[in-house]
Amino acid sequence: MTQKLAVVILAAGQGTRMKSTTPKVLHRIGGKPLISHVLDTAAGLQPETVIAVVRHEREQVAQAILDHAPGTVIVDQDDVPGTGRAVELAIAALPGDFDGSIVVLSGDAPLIDVPTLERLVSGHIEARRGMTLLSAIFDNPTGLGRILREHDGAMVGIVEEKDASEAQRRITEINGGIYVFARAALSRALDEIDTNNAQAEKYLTDAAARILAVGGLVDAVATDDPWLIAGVNDRAQLADAGRELNRRIVLRHQRAGVTVVDPATTWIDADVSIEADVEILPGTFLRGATSIASGAIVGPDTTLVDCEVAEGAHIRRSEATLAVIGAGAEVGPFSFLRPGTELGAAGKIGAFVEAKNAQIGDASKVPHLSYVGDVTIGEGSNIGAGTIVANYDGVKKHHSTVGDAVRVGSKNVLISPVTIEDGAYTAAGTVVRKDVPAGSLAMNVAPQRNLEGWVAENRPGTSSAHAAEQGRE
Ligand code: UD1
Ligand code: CA
Repeated sequence: MTQKLAVVILAAGQGTRMKSTTPKVLHRIGGKPLISHVLDTAAGLQPETVIAVVRHEREQVAQAILDHAPGTVIVDQDDVPGTGRAVELAIAALPGDFDGSIVVLSGDAPLIDVPTLERLVSGHIEARRGMTLLSAIFDNPTGLGRILREHDGAMVGIVEEKDASEAQRRITEINGGIYVFARAALSRALDEIDTNNAQAEKYLTDAAARILAVGGLVDAVATDDPWLIAGVNDRAQLADAGRELNRRIVLRHQRAGVTVVDPATTWIDADVSIEADVEILPGTFLRGATSIASGAIVGPDTTLVDCEVAEGAHIRRSEATLAVIGAGAEVGPFSFLRPGTELGAAGKIGAFVEAKNAQIGDASKVPHLSYVGDVTIGEGSNIGAGTIVANYDGVKKHHSTVGDAVRVGSKNVLISPVTIEDGAYTAAGTVVRKDVPAGSLAMNVAPQRNLEGWVAENRPGTSSAHAAEQGRE
């Protein structure tokens, strides 16, 4: 972009139709608040300044904006209502000598994208307009501002629905609420705009007629993609925008070489990264900052939140948060990986296993029906079916350590803190209360006694007694 840019994001409106204690622009799609999508798009234009105008639920909204994009300038709207007033206050925060283009976006229209805005800005600059806006043709334009044009197609203004005549309401070209302005033309227009209209607001849309009146150029560029301008005003529109965003994200990954078997049941957050030749099976949710390396297979019916999955790992029917899964490792079905789970290369966390803060070394396996929490396991070890790491004494959590090439027997309980050293074995059913030295076998199960004839004596006439008698013959 040859000219300097400033972006203004309007976020002062109330959002009553959300019926929510959460400010509208903080409702989430694709894993982040609506306003964060707009902030990310603004940043993609590499502007000099991003200014956000706030008013309703000011503290919460401003904080969320600064958390996401710390460089943003926050401007408070005063008691004068309207989009024109919001922009007027925003540009007052620009340096006096800023003479570039000003892009105006809406905090509740999250699907606008960088390529569309870049085209809008370059068209605006090339045509030397004072104002360029994104419009669309809607079969049902109800509620939106209409673009007014002469018979020859020249734009003459914008009329809000509430101020429109019958004839004007039949116009199907609508104002998408996304604009580029030349600073000087915008400042001058805003000085002149009043609040004499049906809503007693200072309309930004009135800038069109004002700029034309002083000989400036104005045009609306129609897009054939209505989602780019779709605003979120209620929960139904929130879901619609979320579904559309997801469709776009899935498509982007498919085009980059990811197999997504069923886009309709696959939900991928905006900031997830997936390498080519990953396969995503139906019913999968990839959320937050999850990253998945080439050759991995995820799903079906799997949720990964902020996880790192290495090459060729395979995760089926499982749920994981803040877990790191090594190359070629296997997880599931029905595994639950909580924060701090790190599974080494070619490792395994199998069916009905819960793991938390568990570092499991390369080629180590926890294959069946276990809980492993607050434990470090070395390489090439096997944890027998049904083993529990008892990390909680009722007051505090404790940590245990298992070395390399250890064989923990089935249904052990490791009473933390305890250490099982390299190459040790534990017998089935062992309750490991003491450290196990390298290479030894730990066992604490009482020797088995068989009381012969006990059933015949104590349970006479039962099916067991009968079966025992048959068996003896
Ligand atoms: C506005 C346009 C309308 C266009 C529509 C597209 C005006 C006068 N009308 O309609 O032509 O078709 O957008 O969606 O601009 N906001 C503020 N301060 C305010 C009022 C609004 O910051 O005083 C913010 C809102 O939070 C929202 C955006 O501006 O992000 C648009 O406001 P909204 O009330 O949704 O749009 P309309 O005025 O209905
Ligand atoms: Ca309004």
